[in-house]
Amino acid sequence: MHAGWYEADIERVIATEEQIRQQTAKLAARVAADYKDVDRLLLICVLKGAIMFAADFTRELGRLGVPVELEFMAASSYGQGTSSSGVVRVLKDIDREVVGRHVLVLEDIVDTGLTLSWLVKYLTSQGAASVEVVTMFRKPAAVRSAPPLKYVGFDIPSEFVVGYGLDYAERYREIPFVGVLKPEIYSRPAT
Ligand code: XMP
Ligand code: MG
Repeated sequence: MHAGWYEADIERVIATEEQIRQQTAKLAARVAADYKDVDRLLLICVLKGAIMFAADFTRELGRLGVPVELEFMAASSYGQGTSSSGVVRVLKDIDREVVGRHVLVLEDIVDTGLTLSWLVKYLTSQGAASVEVVTMFRKPAAVRSAPPLKYVGFDIPSEFVVGYGLDYAERYREIPFVGVLKPEIYSRPAT
């Protein structure tokens, strides 16, 4: 079925292309209904991991006739490894004021939620009228932590996943589905 070079590195598939497509359409339909009275929704794609999801989700909103603007932010809490450092660095800020705007942050994956909590706080402090989050994937740690997430594509196990924008050391982003890497691919953090 999949013929990519990456097949050998993937232990198992977490979300197929079709499942991702279906979940994206469902999330977009909910957002379209919830924001039907909002003038222009401000979407903020969190680079780099959310690019695939942001592209598909934004297009889906377009099909549903929802007017939006699309901005990009880059924040990093992971570096090259596979465990959260808790330190958020803003690598690129948005090019537009959020004052009075209804903002939807488009995330690839929420693990501890540290990155997200920081981002939501930041955007709220900038004067956004509302800030909600749409994330394609959520790990168990995020279910327990604040802020509660309204729009979640998939709840997945607490394992490191790649594909559909998600990387390991900048690799595997181009994989059209999401899967778990074989453990031997990455070195485990020292204990
Ligand atoms: P926190 O813990 O702050 O982390 O919620 C969120 C960010 O960490 C990255 N992340 C991952 N990246 N595979 C990845 O490629 C994963 O399994 C994974 N888990 C977390 C991601 O950048 C996310 O925005
Ligand atoms: Mg990453």
